[in-house]
Amino acid sequence: MAYSLFGTMVMLPMLVLACLLGSVSSNFSEEFDITWGEERAKILNNGEALTLSLDKNSGSGFQSKNEYLYGKFDIQLKLVPGNSAGTVSTYYLSSQGLNHDEVDFEFLGNLSGDPYIVHTNVYSQGKGDREQQFYLWFDPTQDFHTYSVLWNPLHVVFYVDNTPIREFKNSEAIGVPYLNKQPMKVYSSLWDAEDWATRGGLIKTDWTQAPFITSFQNFKADACIQSSKSSSPSTCSSLNSSTSSSSSPDRTWLNQELDLKSKKRLRRVQKKFMIYNYCTDSKRFPQGFPPECSKKSTKS
Ligand SMILES: *[C@@H]1O[C@H](CO)[C@@H](O)[C@H](O)[C@H]1NC(C)=O
Ligand SMILES: *[C@@H]1O[C@H](CO)[C@@H](O)[C@H](O)[C@H]1NC(C)=O
Ligand SMILES: *[C@@H]1O[C@H](CO)[C@@H](O)[C@H](O)[C@H]1NC(C)=O
Repeated sequence: MAYSLFGTMVMLPMLVLACLLGSVSSNFSEEFDITWGEERAKILNNGEALTLSLDKNSGSGFQSKNEYLYGKFDIQLKLVPGNSAGTVSTYYLSSQGLNHDEVDFEFLGNLSGDPYIVHTNVYSQGKGDREQQFYLWFDPTQDFHTYSVLWNPLHVVFYVDNTPIREFKNSEAIGVPYLNKQPMKVYSSLWDAEDWATRGGLIKTDWTQAPFITSFQNFKADACIQSSKSSSPSTCSSLNSSTSSSSSPDRTWLNQELDLKSKKRLRRVQKKFMIYNYCTDSKRFPQGFPPECSKKSTKS
């Protein structure tokens, strides 16, 4: 009883907060362009929701109109239900051109009842090979859940329902390139990767289940929008909260670090749900792990 009372008390402010965030979510029509898949990508409810679909002929995808240099990007996804083996839904940030930067969430489908894998990666100035994979602690096909990327000069943090699951720190001090020079757009797609996605490619896509559909809602970017006219891509012309209109923009994300509580949660999630970490894959790095894998790589 005491516990549920306490639960109610902490839930209340959270609900209020969720409503506030919900009310400032972006309009998909205004923030994004459908880039491929034609009618397979649909903007619904006056811009409040978007669905991507995949069939035998094609997947589909969209990208943000804006380019950002740092930000906190939230989106809610409901993944392909049922037998989603072979399908991959993505939500990522990427710059363009050679030596690009990229922050990836990829959701690898599975047979009904078998777990999705959340595959993550970080590229900095062209260097990737930094995969970490996780199982989720819920069924991502039943409801919408929030997947976020926090990207600031200190680190890149991946969140699931506001729980940090991965942190990539700025380790420039020890010679690891960081994502701080190239603006990135936000992308999303649904496509077929039956060659590798499910149990390493053993399980193929069952096309009798097509079309496969992933749904999106509540995109929110508290971010620095890069002006397309800017001649110096290394500076961000102005801080901008693309969504908040009434209140002054909240910029705490720009120097937000993980507090002790978040670090604890991160460690707990990694202990229970991480299924692959390049930083412990000694077969792959016989000559030693990349420098950012060292515990001593940055002060924390
Ligand atoms: C979203 O943007 C589109 C295009 O500008 C507009 O027609 C639509 O009314 C907007 N939706 C909402 C909920 O404001
Ligand atoms: C699919 O389910 C199998 C069996 O539980 C599991 O080994 C695998 O990690 C799951 N996910 C993917 C994407 O293969
Ligand atoms: C700030 O965001 C608003 C709303 O998205 C946009 O119209 C405006 O151009 C942005 N300002 C800058 C300087 O990027």
